[in-house]
Amino acid sequence: MASTTQFELALELIRPGDVIGLGTGRAAQAFLVELARKVQEGLEIRGVATSQRTEALARTLGIPLIELDEVETVDLTVDGADEIAPNLDLIKGLGGALIREKMVAAASRRFVVVAGPGKEFDRLGGRGVLPVEVVPFAVEHLRRRLLKMGFDSRPRMAKVGAEWFRRGLEGLFLTDNGNPLLEVAVTPDQLANPHEVQRQLHDLPGVVGTGLFLGMAQVALIGPNPVDSQES
Ligand code: A5P
Repeated sequence: MASTTQFELALELIRPGDVIGLGTGRAAQAFLVELARKVQEGLEIRGVATSQRTEALARTLGIPLIELDEVETVDLTVDGADEIAPNLDLIKGLGGALIREKMVAAASRRFVVVAGPGKEFDRLGGRGVLPVEVVPFAVEHLRRRLLKMGFDSRPRMAKVGAEWFRRGLEGLFLTDNGNPLLEVAVTPDQLANPHEVQRQLHDLPGVVGTGLFLGMAQVALIGPNPVDSQES
């Protein structure tokens, strides 16, 4: 008998009438497919998308959507993660949706992470990359400021053939908010006090937000790999 997946477990947390935060990435998309099945069977929920990609998929799957602006509270958000620490601090945003993901998660009464194997780390920073969204003005200047703080970084480049190719200057990847994304190299030692790193990065003018999701998740459901056919 097939075992229950992390996506099916997340579905069990939903109650009729809930407003559901819909994450971004492969795991979140796999959850969306399961959720759509329940909606087709008659479950009444409304979703808040954390990215344009998720919004497009939710529409295709027939999941009713509302804007975050329309509600004070989201009942439950289900999203993936790039790193999960034992205390459920997270690194998210390698898919580029970190700001909207964090806004929706912060508005949520419950925030549940769904992930395949390989996302759990003894210490945050195990994978070595922290996404940081920045304004498009003076990106190189900002990178030098980061380097002086001990953080090497590189801007994410747009992929050839991708929808956003050449939307930005010099082929930079731009987020749904129209901002470049820096991939900041981090080690577990550098992230030993993630709240302090968060504060330092937020204090840098030009930084919009980081992929550090600290003290936000209540549950992490780890299971088989979500379908690998889509880019995160
Ligand atoms: C999107 O911006 C990210 O925060 C994703 O949630 C994260 O990268 C995990 O994605 P996958 O489920 O595709 O690994």
